[in-house]
Amino acid sequence: MSKLKNKVAVITGGNSGIGFGIAEAFKNEGASGTITGRNEVTLNNAVAALKSDFIGIAGDVTKSDDLENIFKKTSDKFGKIDVLVVNAGGVVDGLPMADIENITEEGYDRYMDLNLKSSYFTVKKALPYLNDGASIILIGSSAAHRAAPGMAIYSAAKAAIISLAKGLSLDLLPRKIRVNTLSPDL
Ligand SMILES: NC(=O)c1ccc[n+]([C@@H]2O[C@H](COP(=O)([O-])OP(=O)(O)OC[C@H]3O[C@@H](n4cnc5c(N)ncnc54)[C@H](OP(=O)(O)O)[C@@H]3O)[C@@H](O)[C@H]2O)c1
Repeated sequence: MSKLKNKVAVITGGNSGIGFGIAEAFKNEGASGTITGRNEVTLNNAVAALKSDFIGIAGDVTKSDDLENIFKKTSDKFGKIDVLVVNAGGVVDGLPMADIENITEEGYDRYMDLNLKSSYFTVKKALPYLNDGASIILIGSSAAHRAAPGMAIYSAAKAAIISLAKGLSLDLLPRKIRVNTLSPDL
């Protein structure tokens, strides 16, 4: 029950779903740190439910200033970060996944921004605040490996996440920072 004792974690999208489950598991292993999300109500509820040394910092992962704020505030409170879980993503608000006939260029950009670009910049913004030897976990999807109707853009973004993890692993070797992808099933 103490694999993560004294470890500081940041879990984006930790206020619901898979991210909240990860936060609970980390708490049970002794970690402290930050969960994030845009919805302050669910964020506060999630922090209260964790009943531990986790704080909530509101922010949109597609906004550079919000990412900077998340990592700076976490570091101010807890010191350097040991584990970063890049989990925020999935369905874009108000824009259900759809087949190629029904996705506009703007829809394409919004899916890529949330599911690929934000992951890259979450890692980039976190770098100054990560300990050497830290672990970064990118949340991918089984959709990266297996096609599903109406999910081409999301699948492509999640497939790129796997490449991102491989490339970033090499780039971050000098700091001994590991980068892995987890692919939950649909
Ligand atoms: N559930 C599945 O079946 C499944 C399968 C494979 C992969 N995944 C992946 O697992 C991850 C978590 O998904 P989930 O199913 O747990 O979904 P979820 O319950 O909808 O959680 C998504 C989380 O991301 C946050 N989020 C969304 N857009 C954001 C933004 N622009 N800025 C900041 N936070 C944002 C949401 O919080 P706010 O709304 O408060 O911002 C929420 O906490 C995603 O990357 C998803 O692609 C899910």
